[in-house]
Amino acid sequence: MIQIQSPPAVVQVPLVDLRATYLPIREALLEQFDAILNRGQLFNGENLRAFESEFTRYCGAHAGFCCSNGTDALTLALTAFDFKPGFEAIVPAHTFFATIESVVHAGGVPVLIDIDPLTCTMDPARIEEALSPRTAVIVPVHIYGQPADMDPILDIARRRNLRVIEDAAQAHGARYKNRPAGSLADAASFSFYFTKNLGAFGEAGFVTVNDDALADRVALFRHHGHRGKFEHEVVGYNMRMDELQAAVLRAKLPRLDELNDIRRNVARRYNDAFADLDVTTPFEADYARHNYHCYVIQTDGRDALAQHLSDRGIGTGIHYKTPVHLQPAMNTIPHRALPMPVTESTCRRCLTLPCFPELTDAQIDHVIRSVRSYSARK
Ligand SMILES: Cc1ncc(COP(=O)(O)O)c(C=O)c1O
Repeated sequence: MIQIQSPPAVVQVPLVDLRATYLPIREALLEQFDAILNRGQLFNGENLRAFESEFTRYCGAHAGFCCSNGTDALTLALTAFDFKPGFEAIVPAHTFFATIESVVHAGGVPVLIDIDPLTCTMDPARIEEALSPRTAVIVPVHIYGQPADMDPILDIARRRNLRVIEDAAQAHGARYKNRPAGSLADAASFSFYFTKNLGAFGEAGFVTVNDDALADRVALFRHHGHRGKFEHEVVGYNMRMDELQAAVLRAKLPRLDELNDIRRNVARRYNDAFADLDVTTPFEADYARHNYHCYVIQTDGRDALAQHLSDRGIGTGIHYKTPVHLQPAMNTIPHRALPMPVTESTCRRCLTLPCFPELTDAQIDHVIRSVRSYSARK
């Protein structure tokens, strides 16, 4: 009898796996949801208040506030400073477009500068040439989960009397000189979008601030400028987080450091396996503890490599394909942009590989084998 052998099953490797983050907390979460929905307190409930103080403590920040998402978190932080309309905000061109939108929604003008070729974060050496009498704030982005080089940025800000807000949307648990993202500047914004290292199961975000007056204004603007019953002190927003998302985040926060460490191990395995290939692996600066929200390699044949991996069941991402200053929306808003050779080259060459804590050894090996089978040796 002829035995027909079926081909070996292809290992599938998604770029992210939401279900894998749900299963370990499923029981606890369903119990929590049941309790919350029975209580019926979805606004300013006990999970929200508890998470607010737990995540503030985790970040080592003076005060912190849950809010609706990471875009609103940055808008809230910028609004709370009460800058003059038309203020300029210096931001890196290599970021998610939300960084720019927040500046614009807060009444500001984005001034885009290039990034450092190694870390892909804002290049502090480009800040001075971007300054003008209207500059009010610098917004470094901790891109991919690695903090920007904050000391030179803070130094310029101190000398010029500017504010600094960390866009820490991707940087939960990342550290700069052993201090957590979220505690490094005047304020910081986080996203808890479901793909993040600390992700809700819906939309959510967070603002941290370093003084009481700012804290008061963030709280005010987050909830319709509402000071007391029937009293609206300023024209604010509805930028609240709901109680169900707070319960999800509370359930996940205790394991954040452990899961970030697992991501760091996956990154180390990839770095070792690709060391002799003609691809650039992520650079972790001496000052940084990267959380590997995105594990991003760079290579000239990016699109062909992505296709090769896709043919083998491996999901990849491009963060980001079009630099901010070349986005069509920029034609509709006032802004300034300095030359961007590094950002433009990074956008042409970057490819994000699957790097999440629940990856199995077989999945990691499949990614390694597949990248190696395509890429040339150095
Ligand atoms: C750097 C950066 N800033 C801001 C945001 C906006 O966060 P959200 O999607 O929660 O509004 C994101 C989201 O991915 C981001 O990556």
